[in-house]
Amino acid sequence: MYRTKTCGELRFSNVGEEVTLAGWVQHARKMGGMTFVDLRDRYGITQLVFNAETDADLCEKSNHLGREYVIQVTGLVSERSAKNAKIPTGDIEIIVKSMNILNTSDVPPFTIEDESDGGDDIRMKYRYLDLRRNPVRRNLELRHKFAFEVRRYLDQQGFLEIETPILVNSTPEGARDFVVPSRMNPGQFYALPQSPQTLKQLCMVAGIDRYFQICKCFRDEDLRADRQPEFTQIDCEMSFVEQEDILQMFEGMSRHLFKQILNIDIPTLPRMTWADAMKNYGSDKPDTRFGMAFVELKNNQPDNASREIVESIFPEGFTVFDEAAYIGGICCEGQAVYTRKQIDQLTDFVKRPQIGAKGLVYARVAEDGSVKSSVDKFYSQEVLQQVAQKMNAKAGDLILILSGADAMKVRKQLCELRLEMGSRMGLRPKDKFSCLWVIDFPMYEWSDEEQRLMAMHHPFTSPKPEDIPLLDTDPASVRANAYDMVVNGVEVGGGSIRIHDAKLQQKIFEILGFTPEQAQLKFGFLMNAFKFGAPPHGGLAYGLDRFVSLFAGLDSIRDCIAFPKNNSGRDVMLDAPGYLDQSQLDELNLVVDVKE
Ligand code: AMO
Ligand code: AMP
Repeated sequence: MYRTKTCGELRFSNVGEEVTLAGWVQHARKMGGMTFVDLRDRYGITQLVFNAETDADLCEKSNHLGREYVIQVTGLVSERSAKNAKIPTGDIEIIVKSMNILNTSDVPPFTIEDESDGGDDIRMKYRYLDLRRNPVRRNLELRHKFAFEVRRYLDQQGFLEIETPILVNSTPEGARDFVVPSRMNPGQFYALPQSPQTLKQLCMVAGIDRYFQICKCFRDEDLRADRQPEFTQIDCEMSFVEQEDILQMFEGMSRHLFKQILNIDIPTLPRMTWADAMKNYGSDKPDTRFGMAFVELKNNQPDNASREIVESIFPEGFTVFDEAAYIGGICCEGQAVYTRKQIDQLTDFVKRPQIGAKGLVYARVAEDGSVKSSVDKFYSQEVLQQVAQKMNAKAGDLILILSGADAMKVRKQLCELRLEMGSRMGLRPKDKFSCLWVIDFPMYEWSDEEQRLMAMHHPFTSPKPEDIPLLDTDPASVRANAYDMVVNGVEVGGGSIRIHDAKLQQKIFEILGFTPEQAQLKFGFLMNAFKFGAPPHGGLAYGLDRFVSLFAGLDSIRDCIAFPKNNSGRDVMLDAPGYLDQSQLDELNLVVDVKE
């Protein structure tokens, strides 16, 4: 037996026992005639003591242990004279009687401790060493528990976990595909699934009734903190359901996860329409940990977010506002103390190209109730008082206003400003959770790039029955039976009720610009299946990585993935992707011609 105990389990009650432990040398220090070694494994750290007085040879041997050597020791559990309250094994130490060096180690390129001295790149290159660190390992443990509780809940609800293939076909409409050449079918390619969407729908046609899968999905998109080229979904689908059934089922799953993993009781999830989310927060995934909803001061551009015309509160005089189609603001409670310099910083923040505002107007409400603004010279105190009143601003508050020619663009800028102020004001703590459903998404969104309507969710999403007549007259205003679950401003999951009628599906493809022949070529397998008694069905998928990283309070989903890719889509540890040998290329009928 390599060990009788782990490095995390010995306590005061074990004093007097002889044990054998195995693990890695985290740290060794010589103090007089004694050498102390911190021995680490997955379960914790135990202090070892080598005493030169009792065994000079053994103690000498211990002085040559390097960091990350793998050793096995046998010794006596003893009470520690200087206890360490910071670790669970801090009451005891092992007086070592014998040691076996199982393996040596090169000096690791960074310290393997909770706070490492290694930068991001080096830790990713040696990810297997990074994973030895507690904080990283804890994230993987949490991820395991999360997936385990998902399976437990869904199993209890009668869901079957079914594996779908990884080598599938390229489908239009989504993100870019990752493709795999087929040796046996020259010139042909598989695509890796962006999600098992159509396959799970076929499972419903097959009568599976309740399907789920914790599966890898692949999308060749630009990467960000919350996006990886391969990521994991908790993919679910149900038959004979309406939207309400799905919202209930998965609200239940979220409640189960919050309770079992974080011991948090979450309240009933509020539901917000997509239109309200956009109008009030400028985002389809609003962070509702704090308020600061937008106040519209002018809007003469009715759109899907708001059909309501708001006459400008400002009389003519300031060209920027006079020419704007939309003016909106947020009220930051107690922030009138913001200095000119801080406001200049905020102005620079909204003017960054990623946000793209032209400028920022501010107004401070003084203690005496008077309003001092950056546009004082254009407006009377009366007008500014009306603004303060409309924005519900009290003495000591700071009002921030953006305007522009495109209401939706300004809302998105205002969204960034609101989030920035929320962070600065400490209103977005990681241990506070605010969950909601965003519902009633539009079916389509206009793509400037493609100059056509695109499916906002995906082309299998059902329109709201009451909006079906609008498909012919005003498709851009049709709402879908689609929903997202949002937690702390993160879209953790989303789905929809599906179309199960081949004719309606065909019509939706038409609106998306597919000819019947193209639709048949790409989606014939699905439309044919729908001819054989497709049940009404719907579902959703969660991003497991995103949900877990929220639970763990992480800034990036990378930290809860064992072997993640960097922002250029590379695995720097494996050095993937890589080149193929000419013989492999030949076998695959591929000619590589990389243009510089
Ligand atoms: P959707 O495309 O919204 O829906 O994806 C579902 C969830 O997956 C997560 N997600 C990602 N996580 C990490 N990296 C990525 N690149 C990434 N892309 C998406 C998000 C998102 O909410 N088939 C539909 C679901 C359905 O209709 O049932 C789908 O894939 O958390
Ligand atoms: P300008 O006319 O560019 O000198 O701007 C006058 C003031 O209005 C400056 O304080 C700008 O920061 C502000 N401003 C300019 N454009 C906008 C805008 N689109 N929204 C809000 N404030 C703006």
